[in-house]
Amino acid sequence: MREVRIGLIGFGNVGREFVRQLLAREHIIAERFRVRFNIAFIADSRGVLYGTPTIRRDLLEKALNVPRGAVSSLKGGVRGESACSAVEKVRPEAVVEVTPSVYDLNTPALENVDVALENGADVVLANKAPLALRYEYFMKRAASLGCRIFFKACVMAGTPLVDFIMYGLRGREIGSLVGILNGTTNYVLGLIEDGLNFREAVKRAVVEGYAEPNYATDLEGIDLAAKASILYSLSMKPISINDVIIENKIDESVEEIVKNARSKRLKVKYVAVLLRNEAPRVKLVTLSEEDIMARVKGVQNCVKIRTLDESEILLMGPGAGRRVTALTLLSDLLLSVHKIWGGGNQAWKK
Ligand code: HSE
Repeated sequence: MREVRIGLIGFGNVGREFVRQLLAREHIIAERFRVRFNIAFIADSRGVLYGTPTIRRDLLEKALNVPRGAVSSLKGGVRGESACSAVEKVRPEAVVEVTPSVYDLNTPALENVDVALENGADVVLANKAPLALRYEYFMKRAASLGCRIFFKACVMAGTPLVDFIMYGLRGREIGSLVGILNGTTNYVLGLIEDGLNFREAVKRAVVEGYAEPNYATDLEGIDLAAKASILYSLSMKPISINDVIIENKIDESVEEIVKNARSKRLKVKYVAVLLRNEAPRVKLVTLSEEDIMARVKGVQNCVKIRTLDESEILLMGPGAGRRVTALTLLSDLLLSVHKIWGGGNQAWKK
């Protein structure tokens, strides 16, 4: 059995679900892959909980029941300790970073990733900010340190689009990609189509837990722009979220747009459009009801990829939700253990 020490940074909805899924699937992972993931520390916004040397199951179960920001109140906790100190002390083989995505160069997530790589850890992300802000920097840094960054949970959380592009389309070039990649706004647009007003629809998306902690990020197209920049960097050339042009936001005015479209038997979708050699765009489009993308409902996501060899490929599946995100993090951890290339790092190697 291969024992793998991991560090978990971020202990909100996704971090907790990740621990639950890890506990629930421990036996399956051991049986099928001969691997056991042992959590050496959990860092939240106020401190760190350490294991001796890893956190036992009963303590993990207790941690799942403490309020947010209180993981360090448990036995083995150090209040005020930073995630970076924990990484330096423990030197885990992999670090799972699931703090909220904040698109600001001062976000602690950037240092968390840097320090993890410097200490020899592979990094598994659900937080989109590090790669949306500094894709090229982190990929080069990882490659030079012999580590890998996995980020399948950042885009289309429950659907392996990143693996599909990274491994499935290896050696082929993507000419264009159009995607419904924000579950919250797709859900909101669907509810407005069903007759709810904008405010009611947003409220419901928040209650369902699809929206970002600061849901303006979803409505203002920032989440979609982050995903567009990550996909553009992965499949075309490295850019930052700041290079993405946001043409529309989702606000009260969409009620009228949806109503007008419906009278013409058209559907309104909020998409990211990536064309090779052009800046990616985030915008509202109207599609005919027959268009397969028009039928993407709720928090489903969908991408239409056109390769330069003229193939059109469609991938559809869950795009948001804590359970699918947690399961995707587990999948990336398994790729890390199995020494599969991550993050397109191959491209950065000399
Ligand atoms: N808020 C995001 C969405 C979560 O609605 O798609 C997944 O990235």
